[in-house]
Amino acid sequence: MRKLLSALIAATLTTTAAWAADGENVVIEPPEAVSREDGLSAWDRVYEVASHPRCSNCHVGASGRPMWSGPSYGRARPHGMNIVAGESRIGAEYVLCSTCHAYRETLNDMPHAAPQVAMNWQLPPAEAEWFGKSSVEICEQLRDPERNGDRGLLELASHLDHDLILHWAWNPGGGREPAPYSLQEHVNDVLAWGVAGFPCTSDTIEGEDG
Ligand code: HEC
Ligand code: HEC
Repeated sequence: MRKLLSALIAATLTTTAAWAADGENVVIEPPEAVSREDGLSAWDRVYEVASHPRCSNCHVGASGRPMWSGPSYGRARPHGMNIVAGESRIGAEYVLCSTCHAYRETLNDMPHAAPQVAMNWQLPPAEAEWFGKSSVEICEQLRDPERNGDRGLLELASHLDHDLILHWAWNPGGGREPAPYSLQEHVNDVLAWGVAGFPCTSDTIEGEDG
């Protein structure tokens, strides 16, 4: 594990996101060493992002029902119009997400219109359920390759599979609240948490002689 980590740390990767809504590139540069304490503080910030409506509205479980929550929605409730993502997670069994959540280049500045940021707007796998979960629950599942899509630290940090959606989450428009911090700060926090050994507050710490 230690070897793997140093190999990961040796790799410095820059994702060029020319299409990013904010026009900025995300730099993936893991720090050399991070204490457990600093790793836990970084996790706290990662959790603030993960539990924010711009992320958790999609990160729902087996029900397949996306959420409408957060101040711009008022009361938290399942997606209107009986939308269900199904096992396909794209609504193939019912109504396709892309029927309304198609991609368009213009800003999503109309309140209560369907966000249109990517043709592959869809729910993550049910194991990536975050909505309503505690910090410890999300911490334990996000470091578990069996539940995080078999991702290592760099893959987790780069979120390559849904970059467009992530860039939208920090710049949503239409009166929606952006996710806290910035995409770059979030990436840095994920990297710091990983380099610290993915600590969760639920871990039992072995004694000096243990
Ligand atoms: C439109 C729905 C949607 C939104 C909004 C969304 N995600 Fe995701 N997320 C996905 C999908 C789909 C996947 C699965 C991608 C894959 O595995 O290829 C995913 C996977 C992930 C993963 C991989 C680990 C795992 O548990 O599967 C992380 C980390 C992640 N998202 C972070 C975020 C963060 C942080 C935000 C908010 C800033 C966010 N997501 C918002 C749809 C979404
Ligand atoms: C018939 C049109 C329609 C379809 C089909 C549809 N949506 Fe939506 N969706 C909307 C509208 C409209 C909103 C915004 C509602 C508002 O802001 O009051 C929305 C908002 C959302 C949000 C909240 C985004 C946020 O954080 O502000 C998520 C998540 C979402 N949809 C996921 C999905 C998924 C996943 C599918 C496919 C399973 C889907 N939607 C299918 C119309 C649709």
